[in-house]
Amino acid sequence: MDKFEILRKAAAQGVVLLRNEKNTLPFEPSDNVAVFGRCQVDYYKSGTGSGGSVHVPFSVNFVSGMETLKKEGFPLPQLNEELLKVYSDWLKEHPFDAGKGAWAAEPWSQVEMELGDSLVKEAASKSNKAVFIVGRTAGEDQDNSAEAGSFLLTQIERKNIELICTHFEKVAIVFNTSNIMDLSWIDESVFKSHITAVLFSWHGGMMGGQGLADVLCGKVNPSGKLPDSIAYKIEDYPSSKNFGHKDFLLYEEDIYVGYRYFTTFAKSKVQFPFGFGLSYTTFEVSGESYSFSDSKITVRAKVTNTGSKSGREVLQVYAECPQGKLGKASRVLCAFAKTKELAPKESQELELSFPVSRFASYDDSGVTGFAYSYVLEEGDYNFWAGSDCFSCKKVPAVSGAFSVEKTYALETLSQCCAPNREFMRIKPGKVNSDGLFIEEKETVPLSKVDIAKRIRESTPAEIPATKSSVTFSDVIADKSRIDEFIGTLSDVELMTLVRGEGMMSRKVTAGIASAFGGLSDSLHDKKVPAVGCSDGPSGIRMDNGTKAILLPIGTSLASSWDSALVEEVYEVLGNEMKENKIDVLLGPGCNIHRNPLNGRNFEYYSEDPLISGIMTSAACKGLAKTGAIATIKHFALNNQEKNRRNVDSVASERAIREIYLKPFEIAIKEGNARSVMTAYNTVNGFKAASYFDLNNSILRGEWGFTGLVMTDWWATMNDCVKGGEADGYKFSEMLKARNDIYMVCVNDTADKGGFGDNLEESLKKGSLSKAQLQLCAKDILLFITETFAAKAPLRPLRNEVFVESDINSAPEGANLISGRPAFAEDLASVVYFKIEKGGEYRIYGSFRKDGGDTLSQSITNVLVNDKAIGSFECRSTDGKKSFAVAAFVNLKPGIYKVQLEHTKPGIEVMELGFWQDMESPITTHFFEKFEKEREEREKNK
Ligand code: BGC
Repeated sequence: MDKFEILRKAAAQGVVLLRNEKNTLPFEPSDNVAVFGRCQVDYYKSGTGSGGSVHVPFSVNFVSGMETLKKEGFPLPQLNEELLKVYSDWLKEHPFDAGKGAWAAEPWSQVEMELGDSLVKEAASKSNKAVFIVGRTAGEDQDNSAEAGSFLLTQIERKNIELICTHFEKVAIVFNTSNIMDLSWIDESVFKSHITAVLFSWHGGMMGGQGLADVLCGKVNPSGKLPDSIAYKIEDYPSSKNFGHKDFLLYEEDIYVGYRYFTTFAKSKVQFPFGFGLSYTTFEVSGESYSFSDSKITVRAKVTNTGSKSGREVLQVYAECPQGKLGKASRVLCAFAKTKELAPKESQELELSFPVSRFASYDDSGVTGFAYSYVLEEGDYNFWAGSDCFSCKKVPAVSGAFSVEKTYALETLSQCCAPNREFMRIKPGKVNSDGLFIEEKETVPLSKVDIAKRIRESTPAEIPATKSSVTFSDVIADKSRIDEFIGTLSDVELMTLVRGEGMMSRKVTAGIASAFGGLSDSLHDKKVPAVGCSDGPSGIRMDNGTKAILLPIGTSLASSWDSALVEEVYEVLGNEMKENKIDVLLGPGCNIHRNPLNGRNFEYYSEDPLISGIMTSAACKGLAKTGAIATIKHFALNNQEKNRRNVDSVASERAIREIYLKPFEIAIKEGNARSVMTAYNTVNGFKAASYFDLNNSILRGEWGFTGLVMTDWWATMNDCVKGGEADGYKFSEMLKARNDIYMVCVNDTADKGGFGDNLEESLKKGSLSKAQLQLCAKDILLFITETFAAKAPLRPLRNEVFVESDINSAPEGANLISGRPAFAEDLASVVYFKIEKGGEYRIYGSFRKDGGDTLSQSITNVLVNDKAIGSFECRSTDGKKSFAVAAFVNLKPGIYKVQLEHTKPGIEVMELGFWQDMESPITTHFFEKFEKEREEREKNK
């Protein structure tokens, strides 16, 4: 199957059908369908921010998806052509507002055409069915809000849908959204009997509109299932009370996230349960029996297609554990499997085995007698099988039900990541006659850990200096020589290794997020390659405009409940990384959908840790098949965008381990994840990047992780023992906490003190030992041995671009520059540079960007003879002048056309010139002598 077909399949498999009455779907060839909503054309393919910024070669919206089906000869309904024309005319006048391409500036919804009664009436006279596509996006740096245009419908959307329901008997509502939305309105009397079909097509990537067309027309029978619970109101989610605060978020709901909460306390608050999704056929799912042996439960089930179309169903198995000293959720997903395509009347027998640890509880207080242990409490256990968390049925035992006579510990660990702040968490109290529990509260156990002692005890001895001539190539061939190699590294070289550079480093593939490893001449001489990382998670983000494929968003992939498919999709992505010489993907993200309003939910999979962990593992394995490496992120508890850099996620150790760390744990233990990105946020008072218990005690100690840990971009750290104030300079705290590498320092500064971090000073003062620095450098170097870069011949340190100009003279009236840099006023339009002497040049410039969010990313490409060959990128420079090399070029004498392209606006380039002295350090002096001349020019204007 070609790569676009795989993406098409994935987009269709992620579609979740929630309602389908009166034979609304699939559309029949005899139907005439009126399609409403601008997203039929302006189809959302991905969310915003780093997770969705892929330059696609093309993308398919719903209308073009229908055209493809037509070309393929698939029997199709008529689309109401007059209505399509009305929309396409209106869209010309109301183009998509992308926020001018600036960081986090795109609105979460677009203005819709306001429908008039006569238009809808006219459409209904020709069409027997209507579709309305509701679109929403979301992304980094901004959460959703429980307001119109975000989680709720806008007034225009509501009025439009009301009007459509007045004239049509059969209306399908499609949600082309990055997240779940409020659906309570579909049950209001004005809508209920007319809205006969409802489905989520999410953001299906570049082939998303095709996947949607395939499902609506019945080429593909939908088989997606909700990865999140849809409650009637946003307030019904127990996390809503503590969502959106600026300084800290109390995770009072504890382990009762999503369906764990609703199945235990509040079933009636749910409109569509977790795991739910319809098909164009019907299935009978019967859990035949379960048995227990070798610490494993095995459930046997039979799925039969009882309808008239072929299709796939998802078998889901949930555990119900006895309430004991620890509260339990009434349902915990333990295993799932998707059937093959079943023909009508066909059955498939499925056998799902899972370890009892899948439903064990972590005792974070010692109340069961087993402190800091995963325990199985005494009592009877039940297993439920079905196709969602509400309708599943109890599975009978083969011989004797699984019950535990006396509480026991499966695994005893030590206290890690418990909070220091006192708060209460919910817990099931008395049970009601309906089987639901009354919510009670209990105090959360606090941390008793001596982190300083743990750090002391875990630091190995310093590797002695050696004069060996060993190079990194020798280490690649024989990893046991790593210590010998480290012994040859100077302090500066060690510090260079723990500083990543970016974004858009010229030492790796153009346009990507970072480079690390052999970033200096001396490391390069020792044969350490520079390694390139790119966003992630849904495709390769190359901000210089290089094209790449775009996958469906995480939520869509999870909705397929098909891990083999996700593996296949990531294999496609891995192959593209290989072609582009990109070693590491900054994805997938596996944070939990704690609340529907989190802006980055689209990059993550689900409210459930098991499905999140399995999908993350699948992504890691798919990439690994090609040699590419995934980075699982954001470790951990990154569940809100508001004040994302600082907000403190305050949670119990139990919730942290059972819910929020579990996807990471699964991805490391089952998916062999090799790289982890820590989160921006704080966790129980410690910045994730400087949290020793997170990055060492749990990740490496308990889970046996041996890979690389990097920070998120321009993250901040606080004292790894005392917590407290954070800043972006405390690299020593990061290293002591075993976060190996800082992402990212300004380009070309990794061997020159980065942007002024405290490493040198800390080494001098002894607050960071050389052994600790060596330990992280060792993690990094060993990791590099696994990359494409290590397996290929050593790349040159700088990517030099060869440009040969065939322009002999500048056009008439052009701004021809010779012997001086171009200034802002020159750069407002095209300029021509006269290069007299051939050879190597740096394209060097100064620029600034006004204040604003310090994490907002801006990019300006430098086009030479119409080709993007370099760029300036920055966050904010607070209005101050900054200097950088945009590219290394090799030029022949001639005339060169130069132009700026503001791909992510925000940067003002003040000076730009070609500088031939490759050796001298980058300073302001290049421009200084031209300043006077410039002032003169300004005056004479
Ligand atoms: C995001 C990361 C991303 C990085 C590089 C940060 O703003 O939080 O997920 O990988 O930027 O683009």
